[in-house]
Amino acid sequence: MMNWLLAFHFVGLLVWLGGLMTLSRLLGHHVTLSSAEAREALIPFERKSYFMAILPGFLVALLTGLGMLFGKGMANYFAPGSAWGLTFHIKLTLVIALIVLDQVTAAKMRKVHKEDTGSRGTFMGLHGAVGLIMIIVIILVKTNILG
Ligand code: HEM
Repeated sequence: MMNWLLAFHFVGLLVWLGGLMTLSRLLGHHVTLSSAEAREALIPFERKSYFMAILPGFLVALLTGLGMLFGKGMANYFAPGSAWGLTFHIKLTLVIALIVLDQVTAAKMRKVHKEDTGSRGTFMGLHGAVGLIMIIVIILVKTNILG
């Protein structure tokens, strides 16, 4: 059972974070287009990317993660001195940061769609921040370098 949860945890993460990184780049490109028609044409595509890929991907990653957390018992991950104590706390803090970046991207996307304004720099910053946090979390949990 835990192997299935872990497999779908990865599927969910791939769809969530991969989708978020693609969408932020696309929005960064969107706001630089000079043709209003070309900008308009991207709106349904961007909206579907968020609601039909990124959001379900996030829910799959979250539910499978919580399934493993409660399934194996929280003490395995959080107990002081447990092998995963510090790493797991840092991981979940970074997960909260990812959720904030996801919501900021969604809010800025709505603004681009409704008011036709946005900055390429902001979207590229969101793109880089998601990528960096993703790399840090994967290195932390797979190497356990913090002990
Ligand atoms: C959404 C909230 C999340 C929760 C509740 C959660 C929880 C968990 C749990 C309980 C495990 C099993 C660890 C084990 O027993 O070995 C796990 C594995 C893993 N998670 Fe998450 N996770 C979440 C998000 C993420 C994110 C955002 C990333 C990466 C960016 C990530 C990367 C991983 C990796 C790489 C593993 C495999 C660890 C291994 O194979 O040893 N998780 N997660």
